[in-house]
Amino acid sequence: MKVMITTNRGLEDVASKEIKDILGVGAKERPFGILGRVMFDVGDIMDATYFTYLTRTANRVTVFLEHIKISRDRKGLEELYKSLYNLDWEFLKEYHTFAVRTDRFGVHEYNSMDIMRVAGQAIIDSIKDKKKYRQRVSLEDPDIIIRVDVIGNEVLVGIDLVGEKALHRRGYKIYHHPAALKTTLAQQLVILSEWSKEKILLDPMCGSGTIPIEAGIRVKDIPGSFWRKKDLQFTKMDLGIDWIEWMRKIDDDIVKLDEKAKIIAAYRIFRHIKGSEINAQKALVKDIIQFRRIDLEWLDLKIGEKEVDYIITNPPYGIRLSYREELKKIYKYLFYQADYILDNNGKIVLITPQKKLTLENANKYKFELIHKRKVWNGNLEAYVFIFQKCD
Ligand SMILES: C[S@@+](CC[C@H](N)C(=O)[O-])C[C@H]1O[C@@H](n2cnc3c(N)ncnc32)[C@H](O)[C@@H]1O
Repeated sequence: MKVMITTNRGLEDVASKEIKDILGVGAKERPFGILGRVMFDVGDIMDATYFTYLTRTANRVTVFLEHIKISRDRKGLEELYKSLYNLDWEFLKEYHTFAVRTDRFGVHEYNSMDIMRVAGQAIIDSIKDKKKYRQRVSLEDPDIIIRVDVIGNEVLVGIDLVGEKALHRRGYKIYHHPAALKTTLAQQLVILSEWSKEKILLDPMCGSGTIPIEAGIRVKDIPGSFWRKKDLQFTKMDLGIDWIEWMRKIDDDIVKLDEKAKIIAAYRIFRHIKGSEINAQKALVKDIIQFRRIDLEWLDLKIGEKEVDYIITNPPYGIRLSYREELKKIYKYLFYQADYILDNNGKIVLITPQKKLTLENANKYKFELIHKRKVWNGNLEAYVFIFQKCD
């Protein structure tokens, strides 16, 4: 059985590393040349559900059924119908309700509604002809969700194990920040940084606390879907398993709530700091995060020289904010302050589209660039930079 996951584009290798950590298997990054996808083999469906519950880097998980190529003009719908009609739908039982969902990227002469309608009809017709009954559809609460994602000419068909809400919506966010980073992306930054719990981590622009909280749940090994056990599509599978109990047992085996670490979440606005604290409490990591109201410009007054080992942060992108001068100040202060509070060989990990501002300031304060890659934060192109402080 093959599993296909969706992750943040540009960080497929980080998801692949997590697959290895959780299941001990290798994975194919960008199968069929499709960005943001990773595919791997599992022994059975229980491995797939186990991964779905634990993963902190995947946004979606499906049991892979088929890869098809279709045209971008109206002919594509007929091709889709034929291919789906010919697939094996044996796993759909008469008592199941189902729905088709789609994510579509690229320019086509059809829209997502057309894809869902045609795909749904192909499945119904195929079952009617082969198994002599009409498979029931439920758009509100289906037992089985078939995903038919169309990316340019490529179509990926699979059984959705997650459901309507992607996995980055973990369920611990009570307080929302307008420019919050996706939880899965924050997790990938923490993994890329190679931070470990003995080292002091600071996010000086923590917003709703996503980066410190994701670092915290990593320390305590809390499954990515711990807070949304009931909101996972695979729990509708009738395998005679009490799924909630099954997840609780996994928690008992792996979660380590007593682990210690020192993570600092700082921000200049008190309301956000309070919000981060509420989120961290829900996430069960409040005890290992210090919440401090500090303006970036005054970090050196509140945090000691060489006190911090890692700064991982998501500064304002400057896309939604129009203040260029303010932005220049933020990037300047970030490196100026890091030069003081970071220990020798300390690291700064940034996700930002502001390449020039970042590199200019890193250069000015003599930080060495040790890693750079292009990533996508949703549809926004950005870079992940890792700099090291030179002695
Ligand atoms: C992109 S957001 C970070 C979002 C956060 N990672 C989250 O997931 O919620 C960057 C934040 O830095 C804040 N910021 C701007 N100037 C600052 C300063 N001088 N000191 C501290 N934070 C600042 C902005 O208000 C903005 O909300």
